[in-house]
Amino acid sequence: MELPFAESWKIKMVEPIRKSTRQEREQWLKEAHYNVFQLRAEQVYIDLITDSGTGAMSDRQWAGLMMGDESYAGARSFFRLKDTIRRLTGFEYVIPTHQGRAAENVLFSYLVHEGDVVPGNSHFDTTKGHIEGRKAKALDCTIDEARQTQLEIPFKGNVDPAKLERALQEQGEHIPFILVTITNNTAGGQPVSMQNLREVRALADKYGKPVLFDSARFAENAYFIKTREEGYAGKSIKEIAREMFGLADGMTMSAKKDGIVNMGGFIATRREDWYEGAKGYCVQYEGYLTYGGMNGRDMEALAIGLDENTEFDNLETRIRQVAYLAQKLDEYGIPYQRPAGGHAIFVDATRVLTHVPREEFPAQTLTIELYLEAGIRGCEIGYLLADRDPMTRQNRFDGLDLLRLAIPRRVYTDNHMNVIAAALKNVYDRRESITRGVRIAWEAPLMRHFTVQLERLS
Ligand code: F0G
Repeated sequence: MELPFAESWKIKMVEPIRKSTRQEREQWLKEAHYNVFQLRAEQVYIDLITDSGTGAMSDRQWAGLMMGDESYAGARSFFRLKDTIRRLTGFEYVIPTHQGRAAENVLFSYLVHEGDVVPGNSHFDTTKGHIEGRKAKALDCTIDEARQTQLEIPFKGNVDPAKLERALQEQGEHIPFILVTITNNTAGGQPVSMQNLREVRALADKYGKPVLFDSARFAENAYFIKTREEGYAGKSIKEIAREMFGLADGMTMSAKKDGIVNMGGFIATRREDWYEGAKGYCVQYEGYLTYGGMNGRDMEALAIGLDENTEFDNLETRIRQVAYLAQKLDEYGIPYQRPAGGHAIFVDATRVLTHVPREEFPAQTLTIELYLEAGIRGCEIGYLLADRDPMTRQNRFDGLDLLRLAIPRRVYTDNHMNVIAAALKNVYDRRESITRGVRIAWEAPLMRHFTVQLERLS
């Protein structure tokens, strides 16, 4: 008999979590104005709000914490981190930052100016924020297929080379660099193929532009290249990562994802001019160049985490868990962005709550229903998050309306996945009876989803 698959680790420390009653959850959610960001974490049984900073460190990483060098300048832990990043990516220059958006802030302070256009596949919210905040434009050149949730293709996070080339032709002089987000979080944790990265590089060279990778989930992307792209099955994750980064000029990294630390980030680049240009902003915003907002111990843990999470077994355990949840949803007929992504399942709320009008926010309604059903906290990546159009002040309904179930790394077991799937099934089974959603009672002008106050309609 073939042996079944099992995790590539065992558990040394546990953290109790608590179930609640539906009555308690009704009360808590009402107090939170039907916004799950406003709940206390203790009011949540299974927390899928993000995979960022929520992973479980290994025994080696915890041991590394004790070895952290907290020297202000020239700490050993910085050099260990730098050497690891150099080995994994080939990038010579490294600037640590306290998280991913800080890396964006530091690098973009040097690279992005008013009137610029930054083309790429779907920019993450904070990335977009750092571009738009500088009165520049984030131009989404993701392939159209990414918007068809039921279409199954292996690299749904890809950049559309035709769209990118048009941008380069028409707006070339305003483009400081091309940005590729690996994996494409916004499109559903979907990977970008090596072939596509090569095409982007060729266009960049043709038009004389540099390429930056937003690399928060680069190891998961490398896993998908290994398992889905022809010619890569025999290569190691580390070899694939090196080849990917060989096609870029630099990277920003939120280390809270594939670095498996609770806090941290960095910029890495082969370009001396980027390093020289950005380093002053690091000192100004983050800290001196050999810690940039990170503790020495956290740099130590990050160096170890990056090494561990570019090993196949660790990634296989992780991605297979996400796929396991997807398979359960398939059994129950629940529609999500196909195929399953690397870090999350994105349930297609408009296909589930077909009676809830878009003006009443179907994905947020589904988020609420799932929490009330079982204390599971997902997060809306949809019409609420999309904010209003800055000019017309109308809600933006042109994107997808999804409920993201982000799976923390090495935290929950497949039994938890069973609970998540069953809870969703229960909501799905009564979907015909859910006809009303929510109404906005109060909202902030920007990034409203974190603080929005909602009322349930009935
Ligand atoms: N880039 C991508 C692709 C991200 O997903 C994130 C964060 C960032 C940059 C910013 O990094 O949080 O360390 O400042 N994504 C988290 C999420 C918050 O839930 O998807 P950060």
